[in-house]
Amino acid sequence: MLPSLVPLLSLTPVAVLAALEVDLDSPDSIRNAAKQVAEDLMAYYHGNEPGHVPGILPGPPPDGDYYWWQGGALWGTMIDYWRWTDDDTWNDLAYQAMLFQVGPDKDFMDPNWTASLGNDDQSFWGMSALVAAENRFQDPPEDQAQWLALAQAVWNEQASPDRNDDTCGGGLRWQIFATNRGYDYKNTIANGAFFNMGARLARYTGNDTCAQRATWTWNWLESVGYIDADYNIYDGGHVPMNCTDTNKQQYSYNAAVLLLGAAHMYNYTDGSQEWADRVSGLVGGIERVFFPNGTAYEPSCEGGICTTDMLSFKGYLHRWLAVTTQIAPFVADRIMGVLRTSTRAAVNQCTGGANGRQCGFHWTSGVYDGVTGAGQQMNVLGALSSLLIDASHAPVTNETGGTSQGDPNAGIGKTTRTEMAPVTGGDRAGAGILTTFFLGSAIVSLAWMIWD
Ligand SMILES: *[C@@H]1O[C@H](CO)[C@@H](O)[C@H](O)[C@H]1NC(C)=O
Ligand SMILES: *[C@@H]1O[C@H](CO)[C@@H](O)[C@H](O)[C@H]1NC(C)=O
Ligand SMILES: *[C@@H]1O[C@H](CO)[C@@H](O)[C@H](O)[C@H]1NC(C)=O
Ligand SMILES: *[C@@H]1O[C@H](CO)[C@@H](O)[C@H](O)[C@H]1NC(C)=O
Ligand SMILES: *[C@@H]1O[C@H](CO)[C@@H](O)[C@H](O)[C@H]1NC(C)=O
Ligand SMILES: *[C@@H]1O[C@H](CO)[C@@H](O)[C@H](O)[C@H]1NC(C)=O
Repeated sequence: MLPSLVPLLSLTPVAVLAALEVDLDSPDSIRNAAKQVAEDLMAYYHGNEPGHVPGILPGPPPDGDYYWWQGGALWGTMIDYWRWTDDDTWNDLAYQAMLFQVGPDKDFMDPNWTASLGNDDQSFWGMSALVAAENRFQDPPEDQAQWLALAQAVWNEQASPDRNDDTCGGGLRWQIFATNRGYDYKNTIANGAFFNMGARLARYTGNDTCAQRATWTWNWLESVGYIDADYNIYDGGHVPMNCTDTNKQQYSYNAAVLLLGAAHMYNYTDGSQEWADRVSGLVGGIERVFFPNGTAYEPSCEGGICTTDMLSFKGYLHRWLAVTTQIAPFVADRIMGVLRTSTRAAVNQCTGGANGRQCGFHWTSGVYDGVTGAGQQMNVLGALSSLLIDASHAPVTNETGGTSQGDPNAGIGKTTRTEMAPVTGGDRAGAGILTTFFLGSAIVSLAWMIWD
């Protein structure tokens, strides 16, 4: 052996393979750890490189792992990251990416993606545009789409009877186009995101039409049994069954999208008891179902196989709980407590990958599960940055400093499209979210109907 080499050998690997380290009592330490997770997350994004499409993560399958909507989810995560940490490293990329995907009608329906476009997919981009408006993210020049108007376009299109039809007593179908698989499924995420955006538009603009529509949507979700008396939040049901064949899978993004919307309704109604009860009920349900031991857990998939879509849900859960603390402060202490214990567990398992700090998805296990991905990084980034929310400004409205320009008529008359993009292999493979599960349950209901 050559003794002189020993220090070199022992130093190098230790320095490179450092697990993600963070002291949750120190905001600087949280910022530093979040910065590393953000870098590792953005390493999945190539949209700004030659030959790639700006705005999206590699995909959709089979061209890459990620559907179009996850690009929208990514930019919302990065804008929240910026406002909670003050690190604007990624702002220009986020800005360019969001604007690149607005589409010819400025409604997040670019023809490239319509063959697999669900209402929920469109809403994920719309909700990120709202995050931009609510946090005074850089406004585009006047001749381009504006954040608030983009959200209004998505919401107006989804409010139209073309989308919100009479089957099952109302509500949005999962898919927009009749030719897409999942058109006969009315689900919680499509309607929950519409509810969420309506409540936030009501608070931002003061427009009561949006609030009334949000309230109607909440009542509908209860009437079809997707929200039960114990605040279990189920996934959806099929139109041929009048939405009574409730798919009882519970996913955290469904509950969280409703919670953030309910918090905005609570705030918009100046703290009404009715919405306070719903906010408390949802927080209780979320603690029980998705934080069984104080750590985020995805009960409908984590014991088995989670799809790439599902692998990103914990980030929305953490971020939307965090924003709820600012909009409905009466649940803040309760929420921040569980976000802390959950984030601790999340960080503990970030010991994977070539740099030794990549995160997996199984937070309750305490060990890295061996699978890296943009979703896993988005989750931990959302969790870490959410812990800094106390020090940042609450989402603004157009009366409290919001600068984003709206257009109440955005999207009006744009929803009916007979000219559909041809279905390509890549699009057809996985229309929207939860395809696999949905298909399974569709086959079961079909078999049941034939039998009957
Ligand atoms: C649509 O797809 C084409 C061909 O891949 C690409 O050049 C273009 O940038 C895409 N546009 C959007 C908005 O995704
Ligand atoms: C279908 O469901 C809606 C909403 O729950 C209900 O109002 C309607 O009566 C139902 N229709 C039939 C035919 O059962
Ligand atoms: C906020 O938006 C509403 C609805 O568009 C409008 O009536 C109101 O004047 C706006 N307030 C400000 C301060 O711009
Ligand atoms: C309120 O929102 C509805 C639905 O988007 C729209 O039709 C109406 O013009 C808006 N009202 C104002 C004052 O902006
Ligand atoms: C509504 O939200 C603001 C923050 O924007 C908060 O200061 C206020 O307390 C909230 N209202 C209620 C009734 O909690
Ligand atoms: C929660 O803790 C209990 C008791 O230790 C354990 O049995 C259960 O498996 C844990 N749940 C999860 C999701 O880790």
